[in-house]
Amino acid sequence: MRRVLTYGTFDLLHEGHINILKRAKELGDYLIIGLSKDEFNAIKGKEPSYYSYEARKKLLEAIRYVDLVIPEMNWEQKIDDVKKYDVDVFVMGDDWEGKFDFLKEYCEVVYLPRTEGISTTKIKDDLKKKIENLL
Ligand code: CTP
Repeated sequence: MRRVLTYGTFDLLHEGHINILKRAKELGDYLIIGLSKDEFNAIKGKEPSYYSYEARKKLLEAIRYVDLVIPEMNWEQKIDDVKKYDVDVFVMGDDWEGKFDFLKEYCEVVYLPRTEGISTTKIKDDLKKKIENLL
């Protein structure tokens, strides 16, 4: 069985997320998501997610391509996760191109093209603009 691993926040789940999860799953048989904990997003300096870790986890677990969701708590855990979950393929969107090449020592590393024109940040910005126009 080929096991695939990817990481992310996946807040305000959108089409770009579904596209990458579908393509990630197609690279193997079992898809694991390392889902960023709220505390880790704070460390990264990311704006707090709209949905909590538990809510984001629940949504991801309901997606047919997803087999397992594990917590992402720090930058250093990736090698351990690859070993622990016997991962064959590590996948990220190409906004991370080259950043995780150090994992090539342990598994295949694939960067998939992002879906154009959508992101959690864009959804939040668009909604903010709409609200501002209503005020
Ligand atoms: N992703 C993608 N296409 C998009 C948006 C995200 O393929 N349009 C991928 C990312 O490359 C990453 C995964 O989805 O591998 C999770 O990304 P995440 O950062 O959680 O989503 P974004 O929408 O990019 O969120 P943000 O705007 O907060 O960075």
